[in-house]
This record gives sequence, structure tokens and C-alpha cells, in this order.
Amino acid sequence: LQSTTTLANGVQMPWLGLGVYKVKAGQEVIDSVKAALKAGYRSIDTAALYANEEGVGQAIQESGVARDELFITTKVWNSDQGYESTLAAFDTSLNKLGLDYVDLYLVHWPVKGKYKDTWRALEKLYSEGKARAIGISNFQIHHIEDLLADATVKPMVNQVELHPLLSQVELREYSIKQGIQIEAWAPLAQGHLLDNEVIKEIALKHNKSLAQVIIRWDLQNGIVTIPKSTNEQRIIQNADVFDFELSAQEIASIDALNQNHRFGSNPDTFNF
Ligand code: A2P
Repeated sequence: LQSTTTLANGVQMPWLGLGVYKVKAGQEVIDSVKAALKAGYRSIDTAALYANEEGVGQAIQESGVARDELFITTKVWNSDQGYESTLAAFDTSLNKLGLDYVDLYLVHWPVKGKYKDTWRALEKLYSEGKARAIGISNFQIHHIEDLLADATVKPMVNQVELHPLLSQVELREYSIKQGIQIEAWAPLAQGHLLDNEVIKEIALKHNKSLAQVIIRWDLQNGIVTIPKSTNEQRIIQNADVFDFELSAQEIASIDALNQNHRFGSNPDTFNF
């Protein structure tokens, strides 16, 4: 569970973390994050949009886990994009989290005409040590190419919707070439894959759950993954994935499920 990938700037990022999208502010997020930290998770992924950063911060505080053992990610929301407004949004997030730095700060979506100024703000936060690593989320190859034309610091991470129905092969290959770590949001396809027959058969063979097989597929593909759960048993289960290995053939049969199907927004047409 403590196994990490080394980002382009040398920072260690856990392969597995807890995602808290749609986890309610207050007790629900506090309990989920505390359960995860108790189960050995060290990486928590939140965002200003999720409106639960305060609860994440409170859970961290109450857990007693040392700050330097944790890897905390948050993101600047679309309406805050722009240079000055991103700097201000970052301070708000940091205050809500009760932290004096984050491990990873992400541009949540590639807002047209804004993300380059937003990126300059992230570069400043990075140079000041307020974010140990910076990255992007929901960027397609053409957005990354556009950003790189002006960037001083290359994004270290790109967090995108990624699961067996949207396996993002082209973006993954591009990211490897660029030295950008890919991270999956909605790795369990928001629950849609948990009755899939192909995955079920593999799960039975390994005496694991379908969720565990999908998480294992991420890890063996070099994808950082942040399954969301608010249930303590499932939080524990999702981290119990380091004692089995999928065969190349099993990986290939999961790869074959790809349909380029998004449950979330399309980064080229989103409008929010
Ligand atoms: P719950 O929070 O009740 O556990 P994603 O990470 O792709 O967004 O998927 C999250 C969804 O999958 C949530 O509905 C979550 O429900 C469910 N989920 C998470 N882990 C498991 C698991 N191990 N088994 C079944 N469902 C799970």
C-alpha cells in the first residue's frame, strides 16, 4: 500500500489513494478519510469543487499521521482559473485543508483561454514550495501540447477518467513519452463495471472482488488510481490488492473491454 511511483521531479506519489468526489462534507468525508488512513492509505484526492476539503483536513489532523507521510492532492476549480484568481483559490484550499503545503495541485479542467495563465500560477506555487508537484486533469493530448508550448515546468501528473471502458491507451502512451504520470479518476467506472462478466470470471479465479481486479489492472498498467468509497470495509478491500497478480492474458481480456465510453464530461465539449 505504501508503494510509490517517482514523479518527474523526484517526488514519491503512492500508486493507490482514496478519491473523495461526491463524498459529503462533514462527517461522511471525515469518516471515510479516517478509515482510509487507518487502513494504511497515505494519498487522498480532493478538489475545491468537492466542497469537502475542510473535512479532509480535519480527518488528517485527527488521524495523527505525520504530515510528511501523506500525499494530499487538491485542484483549482474552473471558475477560479486565471493567474491571480488561482493563487487566491490555492490559499483558500490550503486554509480549508489546514495545511501549509499540498503534495499535488492540479488544474481541474482545460478551460479554454484560461489554463495557460492558471498554469503560470501553479508554476509559481511550485517554485515557492507550496505544492511539491503540479499537474493537470482532464487534459487531452492537444491541450498538453498547447500548454507545453509555453510552460516552464512540465506537468508531473495528468488525472483523467480512466477505467476498462475508457482505457485511454493513446493518452497513456503519450504520457509515458512525456514523463507525465497518468492517474485514473472513476477507476471503477463509478460502479458501472462491478457486474461485468469478464472481470467477474477473473475475480473468481483469484478469489478477489471485481473492484480489486480493476484496481490491480490499473497498477499493473502503471496507472495511479484513486477508487472512491465511503464504506470502511470497501475502503479496506480496495487497498488489499498487493498480494495477487493478473496474467498478461487477463490484462489483455480487460483491455479488450474498452469502448471509449465516458461517464463524465468530454474535455473538448464540457461547459461548466
Ligand atoms: P461506496 O462508496 O458505497 O463504496 P469510482 O471510484 O469509479 O468513482 O467508483 C466509486 C463507486 O464504486 C461508488 O459508488 C462506491 O460505492 C463503489 N465502490 C467502491 N469500492 C467498491 C468495492 N470494493 N465494491 C463495490 N463497490 C465499490
